[in-house]
Amino acid sequence: MLEIKEIHSYYGSSYILQGVSLKAEAGEVVSLIGRNGAGKTTTLKSIMGIVRPAQGSIKFKGTEICGLKPYQVARLGLGYVPEDRRIYPGLTLKENLEVAQMKPGLGETGWTFEKVYQFFPHLRALGEGRLGSNMSGGEQQMLSIARTLLGNPEFLLLDEPSEGLAPLIVSALADTVNEIKAEGVSVLLSEQNMKFAFKTTTRSYIIDGGKIFFEGKIEDLMANEDLVREHITL
Ligand SMILES: Nc1ncnc2c1ncn2[C@@H]1O[C@H](COP(=O)(O)OP(=O)(O)OP(=O)(O)O)[C@@H](O)[C@H]1O
Ligand SMILES: [Mg+2]
Repeated sequence: MLEIKEIHSYYGSSYILQGVSLKAEAGEVVSLIGRNGAGKTTTLKSIMGIVRPAQGSIKFKGTEICGLKPYQVARLGLGYVPEDRRIYPGLTLKENLEVAQMKPGLGETGWTFEKVYQFFPHLRALGEGRLGSNMSGGEQQMLSIARTLLGNPEFLLLDEPSEGLAPLIVSALADTVNEIKAEGVSVLLSEQNMKFAFKTTTRSYIIDGGKIFFEGKIEDLMANEDLVREHITL
């Protein structure tokens, strides 16, 4: 469904992604694991067209998307939940969802507002009038995911959803990712938290210094202490 081949991405003269290749099939939840500064966000931004790779290929459902603009990539069915969540503090919960309605009819079929509230009962319980500034990190993360789901993505890019959240919330979020998968949405999840990745994903990649160092079953990754020490924890 998503196939990245040898992408090279820069910020100005800083050479960040140094030949990243990865793929995700329909129905998979794949994790991209790496420490701070490894290149996780840059990989997701490169897929979305926010960063334009200097070289390489990114195919989504067989179509080359490398070089497309973010809104064009989104229209093809890729949804992006950014690391910083981008909740508008001065807007209410409902208004934060409504900003997703860039095209008419969005939120009326597929992922409707009602379905989103069924999916995240906690958001319904908070109330539509709750201000973004008055929501916890976990609530903002749910709202950010809910907003992206309203765009009916076939494939979701989740950038470090567990970052900064309490263990109980992280556990609930893992259930959410599994439910999203059950809805037939494929996911590429960037994470530093291996336990969270373990609960949600089957296949993993390790990224370090803008290069991929491992591809395989997450069980094999967790069992390989040297690999974890060298590329993730230290
Ligand atoms: N806008 C930018 N301009 C210049 N360098 C950047 C920019 N954004 C990120 N970088 C650098 O690119 C490298 C990869 O960053 P990236 O944000 O992709 O890492 P990450 O794996 O998402 O890390 P984190 O866990 O901190 O989110 C880092 O060295 C970072 O300092
Ligand atoms: Mg990041």
